[in-house]
This record gives sequence, C-alpha cells and structure tokens, in this order.
Amino acid sequence: MAAVLDKATVIDGKAVAESVIETVKSAAAGLKDASGLVPGIAVVIVGEDPASQVYVASKGKKAKECGFHSVQHTLPDTTSEADLLALVDELNTDPQIHGILVQLPLPDHIDDGRVIQAINPEKDVDGFHVINAGKLTTGEIESAFVPCTPAGSMLLIERVRGKDLSGLTAVVVGRSNIVGKPMASLLLAANATVTIAHSRTPDLAATCRNADILVAAVGRPEMIKGDWVKPGATIIDVGINRIPAPERGEGKSRLVGDVAFAECAEVAGAITPVPGGVGPMTIAMLMANTVVSAYRHAGRTPPTF
Ligand code: GUN
Repeated sequence: MAAVLDKATVIDGKAVAESVIETVKSAAAGLKDASGLVPGIAVVIVGEDPASQVYVASKGKKAKECGFHSVQHTLPDTTSEADLLALVDELNTDPQIHGILVQLPLPDHIDDGRVIQAINPEKDVDGFHVINAGKLTTGEIESAFVPCTPAGSMLLIERVRGKDLSGLTAVVVGRSNIVGKPMASLLLAANATVTIAHSRTPDLAATCRNADILVAAVGRPEMIKGDWVKPGATIIDVGINRIPAPERGEGKSRLVGDVAFAECAEVAGAITPVPGGVGPMTIAMLMANTVVSAYRHAGRTPPTF
C-alpha cells in the first residue's frame, strides 16, 4: 500500500505579518523616545486604477497604525512625467519623509523606470532602485532595501526551514524585477541552490518537481499542479489572481494564487494560502523598511526582522 501523506501545514502569513508589525510599532516608538524622530512614508498614486487605490489605502492605514507620519499624494492620470518627477524630488529632500513609494503601474505616458530611478535610494522602501537591486545581488543586504514581497516570502520560508538553506534546492517560477529576481538573490544568499524558471523553461513541471522550496510568482491562476510538487516541499504562492466564481452568485469572483492549493497541499510539507499568505507580509515589510530607513537617517542601528 502506498504511504498516506499528511496534508501540508498551512503557513499563516497573517500571524507572521502581525508579529512584524508589533516589532515595527515598538521600534517606531523607541526611535521617537530616543531621538524625537517619527518615521515618515509618502505614497504616490497616479490615476484611478481600482486595485491600486485599495493597495494604497491599506498602506496608509497600516502606516498610521504603526505610529508613522503618513502622507498620500493622489494625482490625476493626466499628470505629466515632469510633474511627477518634481514631486519625487520634493519628497527626496523632505526631512519628515524616510520612505517614498510610487504605486505601479503608472499611466502609459509616464516611464516607470525613470520615476523609480529618480527616488533617493536611501528612501526607496520598495527596493526597486538599481542601487538597491545591485546591493542585493552583490550580497550587501545590510544596507539595501529589499523588495517587500520577496523579503516577506523569505521570512515565511525561514519559519519553516530556518535561516540556512544549505543543501536545499529552490525553484522560483517567474523572473520579474519586483519578485522573481530578488527572491532568487535572497535564496542564494541563504545558501540554497537556486533555479529561476519562467514561461520559456522547457519542462516546467519537471523543474518544479526538484524543488524543496517552490516560489510561484507568475500571475497565472492555479498554474502549479499537485504532480509538479516534490513530497514535503515548502510552497510560497505569491500570485493574487481574481477569477470568476459563478457558484457564489452572478458576477461574483474570488481570489486564487498561482498554485492549485488543494491538490498541492496533498503533497507539500508546508504551503501559503491565498489570501492570508504572502499578501499580508508585503505590507508588513513595507512598514519594516520604512522604520529601518528612519533609524538609518537618525544614525542609529535599525531593528532586524
Ligand atoms: N504595484 C503592485 N505592487 C506594488 C508594490 O509592491 N510597490 C509599488 N510601488 N507598486 C506596486
């Protein structure tokens, strides 16, 4: 008789995110007591993308909860690139602001890259500036800002596998600058043997089957199937995809990840759910990066997460 596998542990991203937020709150309060400095974050949104509006509102709310000075700049989608760059410049020199986040995507007439590279790397709490990307790939993680989603995913992996991933194989599916590439750098820095797979990888299923740690960041609903998973693997599902759910009523939808959760949970050792996995970690790590930035600006040793 074949061995019966236990179902995977479901990794509670909400609980881990809450513990990060508690650390951020006490670090912010400690900095204020010690130096009078209040961490400040500016979030800039251009246009009316509904998903972006929801994300930005929740970032502002969480920042206030952490005791930060939080400002939102809401600009019309007709804003010129020059005007947006002028705002970034103003925030770069504003002593009350330690973190700047320009919500992406930007309208088509604005060059995302030009705007991101205009942010002072020391305030780039998204970790998207080439200086921060370069520091991460060269291993200068201590002084870098690491992009929030991979940083949060890494904390979840640590909870399951510890900090040293020596001897473990990690496969990252997706090669974006925001998730796939920085995720691979973090896993490599933790001594994992890392493969980045993507849409042109010939046998994706076989590649995934090698993974002790499988990170899915492709934006395709439920693409990773149960028979792609190595028994006992740790699965981190970065995808957030809204799909129709007619069973919930006409016009209803639901969120799913890039991983077919139920069938993969039969094989994996641990798996993140969607929602409630990586999602809450992203915003928690944005708060963590902002408080770290404030500590650096004050010349004090920042907390670690
Ligand atoms: N759009 C979707 N996710 C993000 C993010 O993490 N940062 C920014 N700036 N824009 C986004």
